[in-house]
Amino acid sequence: MNKIAIASDHGGYDLKKAVKIMLKELGYEVNDLGPKNNGSVDYPDYGISLARAVAEKTVARGIVICGTGIGMSIVVNRFPGIRGTLCSDVYTAKLCREHNDSNILIMGGRVVGHGLAHEIVKTWLDTPFEGGRHQKRLDKITRFDATNKF
Ligand code: RB5
Repeated sequence: MNKIAIASDHGGYDLKKAVKIMLKELGYEVNDLGPKNNGSVDYPDYGISLARAVAEKTVARGIVICGTGIGMSIVVNRFPGIRGTLCSDVYTAKLCREHNDSNILIMGGRVVGHGLAHEIVKTWLDTPFEGGRHQKRLDKITRFDATNKF
C-alpha cells in the first residue's frame, strides 16, 4: 500500500505542509488528517486520529508532527501495534526502521529544519525492517499488547 497518513498540531503545521508536498512528489497517496490551518489545537486529538488510522491499517504508515514531537510520542504509543519513533537525525530514522519496524515517524516542527526533515522522511520511507533477532524483540511487545503481561 502506497498510502501515508499525516497529521500535526499547530506547532507542527508548517512542517506538515512541507512533508505533504514531499510525499506527493515521491508518489505517495497522502491522507492528511489535519489540522487545516495553524490555529491552536490540542495535539492528542490529531495524534489519536493518526494512530488509529495506522493501527486499523487504513494506511501503510503515518507521520505526525507537533512542536517538539514529545506530545505526539506520548499519545501514539498508547495504541497496541503502534511503534512511533521520534527522529531528529537521519541515523535514528534509519535504525528505527531496521531494528524497530517503526510504523509512525514523529518529528518536532520546532526542532528540525525542513531540509533535515526531508532527509529523515526519505530515509524512514526507504529503509526496510531487518527482521531476525529484532522480530523476536518486537514479538515480546506484541505479546504484552495482547495479554498486558510481560
Ligand atoms: C504546543 O505549544 C506544544 O506544546 C506541542 O506542539 C508539543 O510540542 C507538545 O508536546
